[in-house]
Amino acid sequence: MIFIYGAYGYTGRKLVDLLSDKDVELIVAGRNPEKIGRLVESIKAKGKKVRHYVVGPDQIEDLDIPEVRLVINTAGPFSEFGESIVRFALRNNANYIDCSGEPLWVKKLYDEYSWRFAQKNLFLSSGVAWETVAGELVLKKLLNSIDVSSLGLNHKIYIVYLGEFNMSPGTLQSSLYIIKNGAWRWMQGKMIQVKVGSVYFEFDFKGRKFGATNITTADIINLMLLLGELKNKISLEILFAGNIRRVIIFRIALNILYYVLKSNFAFSLLKRILDKFSEPSESDRILASSIAFLLDDLSGKILKFQFIDSAKPYLVTAKILSYAVDKFIDGQVKGVGYTSPTLLFDFPEYILYP
Ligand SMILES: NC(=O)c1ccc[n+]([C@@H]2O[C@H](COP(=O)([O-])OP(=O)(O)OC[C@H]3O[C@@H](n4cnc5c(N)ncnc54)[C@H](OP(=O)(O)O)[C@@H]3O)[C@@H](O)[C@H]2O)c1
Repeated sequence: MIFIYGAYGYTGRKLVDLLSDKDVELIVAGRNPEKIGRLVESIKAKGKKVRHYVVGPDQIEDLDIPEVRLVINTAGPFSEFGESIVRFALRNNANYIDCSGEPLWVKKLYDEYSWRFAQKNLFLSSGVAWETVAGELVLKKLLNSIDVSSLGLNHKIYIVYLGEFNMSPGTLQSSLYIIKNGAWRWMQGKMIQVKVGSVYFEFDFKGRKFGATNITTADIINLMLLLGELKNKISLEILFAGNIRRVIIFRIALNILYYVLKSNFAFSLLKRILDKFSEPSESDRILASSIAFLLDDLSGKILKFQFIDSAKPYLVTAKILSYAVDKFIDGQVKGVGYTSPTLLFDFPEYILYP
């Protein structure tokens, strides 16, 4: 049985829609009775049976549903209330995945929950979503195209996301946690904190010039797991790219936000404002590419790059989660304890095409 928390959110609904066509038993849950009611009606209208729970994060931890085998959390910000959903999975001896993009959340799962799940022979993974999966797959593509034994301290890798799509209220709120906690860089085996927006990188792509700056997402831990021993030799950082003028303005905004968000009052006020934003609509025309650059660390010269084009990141995230369910049901999941998404589910590149 698959339990989906936050099932009526933008990503959750797209996932439920994909799973409704499959032979899989679903339990949907969230805190709002009207929203859950509407979702349940829409699933039943498709002729599919579904169980549901109206439950907030503060009550879910005590819920006993022993038939649940996999918990999928699509409700964010994860750093704020995700832990009780992880504990719910652990209590019920179920595996756990989510679509978070928040790096410190992933670090928490890795540091504090990996061994607890491993003890029960269960897995957990975070960032089972467009962004991390695109980052992991493009990193693999880069590493497969070079002689990795020649890489050393003089090399760095940038994983760059290029996408100018609208964000959902949940993503915008998660972004506040991401910006507030600064940016992180892998440097020869150590994860060090750097200022958000402190790196600026320009590159040509498909005949256009782009700028990019550093904001760290869930990938920083997942990519480290993928790099294995190589992480002790090189440095790696995550950047977001766009048209040069926008990135320059974005860097200034990041700098201001980094300080403003230190105030708890400003943080919760902004979060409440962002919660009122409307849901995005996804268009085919908006690309969401992931690009991996190998650079000479001293000169900044680009030595090699690989990219994967995608679109509709929210739909792709739902497809990724739905693919993970298929693999889980087929017993094709490799790993116990915390495992990065692509190591756990062996996602093919085409999963990123909408
Ligand atoms: N890494 C990626 O590529 C990627 C892709 C897609 C999504 N995501 C992440 O997934 C999360 C959800 O995104 P979304 O687009 O689905 O956002 P959304 O449409 O705004 O949905 C957010 C969900 O979280 C629930 N929620 C918020 N605060 C809650 C609380 N205190 N207690 C219980 N439930 C709460 C909401 O329920 P209520 O309506 O009851 O508030 C809603 O179900 C975000 O954190 C986003 O960053 C990441």
